[in-house]
Amino acid sequence: MPSGYKEIYEGWSTDPEAFWAKAAGEIDWVKPWDKVFDPELGAYGRWFVGGECNTCYNCLDRHVQRGRPGQAALIYDSPITGRQQTFSYRQLLDKVQAFAAVLQDNGVDRGDRVIIYMPMVPEAVMAMLACARIGAVHSVVFGGFAAQELATRIDDSKPVMIVSASCGIEPGRIVAYKPLLDEAIELSTHKPSRCLILQREELVAGLVPDRDASLTPLLEDALGRKVACQPVAATDPLYILYTSGTTGTPKGVVRDNGGHMVALKWSMSNIYGMEPGEVYWAASDVGWVVGHSYIVYAPLLQGCTTVLFEGKPVGTPDAGVFWRVMAEHGVSALFTAPTAFRAIKKEDPDGRLIADYDLANLRTLFLAGERADPDTVQWAEQHLNVPVIDHWWQTETGWSIAANPIGLEMLPVKHGSPTVPMPGYDIRILDDAGHEVPDGDLGNIVVKLPLPPSCLPTLWQDDSRFRSSYLEEFPGYYKTADAGYRDADGYLFIMARTDDIINVAGHRLSTGGMEEVLASHADVAECAVVGIADALKGQIPAGFVVLKAGVDREQAAIERELIALVREKIGPVAAFKTVAIVDRLPKTRSGKILRGTMQKIIDREEYKMPATIDDPAILDEIADTVKDRAIGAWSV
Ligand code: COA
Ligand code: AMP
Repeated sequence: MPSGYKEIYEGWSTDPEAFWAKAAGEIDWVKPWDKVFDPELGAYGRWFVGGECNTCYNCLDRHVQRGRPGQAALIYDSPITGRQQTFSYRQLLDKVQAFAAVLQDNGVDRGDRVIIYMPMVPEAVMAMLACARIGAVHSVVFGGFAAQELATRIDDSKPVMIVSASCGIEPGRIVAYKPLLDEAIELSTHKPSRCLILQREELVAGLVPDRDASLTPLLEDALGRKVACQPVAATDPLYILYTSGTTGTPKGVVRDNGGHMVALKWSMSNIYGMEPGEVYWAASDVGWVVGHSYIVYAPLLQGCTTVLFEGKPVGTPDAGVFWRVMAEHGVSALFTAPTAFRAIKKEDPDGRLIADYDLANLRTLFLAGERADPDTVQWAEQHLNVPVIDHWWQTETGWSIAANPIGLEMLPVKHGSPTVPMPGYDIRILDDAGHEVPDGDLGNIVVKLPLPPSCLPTLWQDDSRFRSSYLEEFPGYYKTADAGYRDADGYLFIMARTDDIINVAGHRLSTGGMEEVLASHADVAECAVVGIADALKGQIPAGFVVLKAGVDREQAAIERELIALVREKIGPVAAFKTVAIVDRLPKTRSGKILRGTMQKIIDREEYKMPATIDDPAILDEIADTVKDRAIGAWSV
């Protein structure tokens, strides 16, 4: 029997359909598929065509029926509120059935969209699973986004219902969600007919008559009701998750039901090395893809216990909270973003707080969401004394493109590399003309089509944007929009995005979107936002703005307004706190702003003078500004 990575990868590559059909045997199907893969359907083919299934059934019912009713399914640990609650598989199933009944009572049918705009509370997970149960399509919107961002998602997904909460809780402040929700509905053209609001103790929100209802009493009344799982096509959408594109309009990544379950279940055993019954903790947020895949769906598909953590790695109450959670709940694998460890390392550089806790169960730390810098990886290795596994993936894929599959075999770790491609991904590195480059050379990382199960089949109701964003530049390949290289051992190194996406504390943001906001200010003629290096968050945005001729207001006041505007329009999560007014922006002769060169100047990196630059003197002006203003690397 093949067991090592090489054999498994080769096995997949020789017969991909047999590989995925075998993996699909781990899932319960209402009706088996007619074709494992049909290349004729969709933009590049569809997986498990003709199959019928239900994701909620596979996450909950089957574990209740087959020996896990009393095992903890979900542990809610909220240091920020001081609350903790554990739900067994049976209890979670009951709660989800009650939620599904409430959705149906309030007019949600199969195929309808439901937006979930919630903090990290158990009801958010229940809402997702309840949608899956009745075949409705959820779209979770991260709580740190502003009303305008929510409005865009309402107009694109046209939900019949929004499930939200009165507030989220951030260190030192209560974030009132309801006014943001009301404003978003005001701004949007599409109006949901119903909003269900979880009233939290910390803040009670006012309800709009005929539209809003309080969630908890409805759930309490419905407890005990049974709602059968709605069989859906394997190719039906389970959810839409909006992610940053190159403009301010986010992309609605569509996830199907069948392929998603197959890939996630495979990943839990083979990449994460998790056995049913073990405790798995993804310290992310349900608003991000990591939260969808590895707080909610994958651990439950595998019959594990998942931890839902409402807090921060530091300050809730201290840099020992991750160790406390792991010790208290017996966590075997922790998955988080490197930025969380940088935050901990900053507060507790010698990792002294670790000694206060028993981490005997912890086997592995997984990092993703941004480049794992070798310093952070080494610090974690030294202090936790377990393998630290970097792995690379995207909202679009829903699971790892490259990883070190410790469930199969642990390959030697190379710091700075997320290791090797997973089965399903035939990775090529191409130059801009589409030719493969030699090992060691930097290029565009692409995946030879078809993409494996779980990867997006399209963007929500926008096949044409799907094709133009991902498939057209390199025909026959999916463009990851990441640049990097492969070394002689086949290890991948992911170095940078090829578009204007930046990664702020593991959160994916569009500098183009921020530029649209800055440009909307009455005094702004033109602007550029670049992602600059930040010791804690990896990257942060910095804006450079040219004012319209004749504007003679105090510049500091304009800068404050610009910072407030990005916070108001995109949200606090953008961490937009640096902006400088300049006389001119560096451009090519054809008028393209040289953002890449600006970023290098700010990060004090070597740069080549672009051959097409219009006026090189402007680069000196930018350098003078960042020096005078102590921006980025110039602050130290
Ligand atoms: N609702 C409302 N506001 C939110 C929010 C939410 N759900 N999440 C974050 N915010 C706000 C924060 O309060 C903060 O506002 P501020 O500017 O008033 O301080 C802002 O958005 C930025 O938040 P955050 O990115 O969390 O930065 P931070 O400075 O508060 O904390 C870290 C820094 C490193 C501790 C934090 O980013 C972190 O825990 N990162 C973990 C990485 C992660 O989960 N990544 C997800 C992908 S795996
Ligand atoms: P998101 O869609 O929010 O998950 O962000 C995906 C992007 O984050 C990728 O395209 C990469 O640019 C970056 N990313 C995620 N994981 C890694 C990693 N392990 N190493 C380097 N970059 C990563």
